[in-house]
Amino acid sequence: MLSGKRLLLIVSGGIAAYKSLDLVRRLKERGSELRCILTSGGAQFVTPLSLSSLSGEKVYRDLFSLTDESEMGHIRLARDADLIVVAPASADFLAKMAGGLAGDLATAVLLASERPVLVAPAMNAAMWRHAATRRNIALLEEQGVRRVGPEAGDLACGEVGEGRMAEVPDIMAAIEEILVPDTSLSGHRALVTSGPTHEPIDPVRYIANHSSGKQGHAIAGALAGMGAETTLVSGPTSQPDPEGVDVQRVETAAQMLTACQSALPVDVAVCAAAVGDWKVNGAAESKLKKTSGAPPILALSENPDILASLGQAGNLRPALVVGFAAETENVVEQAGAKRKAKGCDWMLANDVSAGTGTFGGDENTVQLINNEGAEDWPTMTKPQVAERLARRIADYFSHAA
Ligand code: C5P
Repeated sequence: MLSGKRLLLIVSGGIAAYKSLDLVRRLKERGSELRCILTSGGAQFVTPLSLSSLSGEKVYRDLFSLTDESEMGHIRLARDADLIVVAPASADFLAKMAGGLAGDLATAVLLASERPVLVAPAMNAAMWRHAATRRNIALLEEQGVRRVGPEAGDLACGEVGEGRMAEVPDIMAAIEEILVPDTSLSGHRALVTSGPTHEPIDPVRYIANHSSGKQGHAIAGALAGMGAETTLVSGPTSQPDPEGVDVQRVETAAQMLTACQSALPVDVAVCAAAVGDWKVNGAAESKLKKTSGAPPILALSENPDILASLGQAGNLRPALVVGFAAETENVVEQAGAKRKAKGCDWMLANDVSAGTGTFGGDENTVQLINNEGAEDWPTMTKPQVAERLARRIADYFSHAA
């Protein structure tokens, strides 16, 4: 139910605007308080009268209307909403949003708003594929704008391809997902590892790796967002602490293991950290000097495998143990073998070979490997991968219950 939720619907130009009339009807049925802005492009496809009849409210159109501004200034329109939905979002409108333009009421409201935004793109398939649109969408998603669709199918222009606005039930589901928080993991405890480890050589030098912690932190945030009591054990990263998560900061693999063990028992453990495989034996207590002759020879020894130790933790073993496997070739095969060797239930395998941009990047293409086989996930942003994994974990526990 959406009762009491305040929605602002922006209808921009596109033949799919006719579906927005149905969207308005459904949103009203679910009890939302709805206001609509119709852009001049949108008004080519639906009339202000049809929108206002269905929403039962005045339709806002003009940034420079004295009446509109005195009844409801655009700043209030921007702030009074729990969610702003742009459906349809045309290529032109998305470009304006990405560019931060504010030349009409709809774009000015978006620029003045700090509320969540959901876009439902609709356009010709070539426009959707165009590098400019890809860049605009990536920019908007980076800013936290959510997206539903577009879908593949017959397009109004007579072509077939990706570009159809998502169907109204899918837009409704996306709206509810944002406004009605899913708390299906409440009552569950989760442990997540994230980031690199730093293995000291001496007090000022260390061995590390390129892990940014973006994926692990997003997973901890998504699990906590769904109500799980979440501990994040993180190596050194510049990621902000995810909301509602107990963050334990560590440097070395040995410290990460200890922190993980003291977080047990948990229901689910997700090991996303890039734990250093080796540590330096007998790290020097004081800074090694360049002047003391030949360069030092570092003797290394193996670090504990945190994932394997959780996978084989006897009666403290989490019910669900999830690992990540970054591979450069034969990804599924290698990750499947690793899943068995480390005693974990699910492996999220990703290709990190040169050019994929996964390490430190914002996107991830993963395959989920479990005892039933491998499942391809589309390329998503790291927060989207985290959301999908958290929902998958919630499904697992709802079936296990
Ligand atoms: O063996 P590999 O490093 O490829 O395994 C990756 C998975 O194992 C990741 O989930 C990582 O977090 C975990 N791991 C660990 N402790 C280690 C090495 C890897 O938890 N020492």
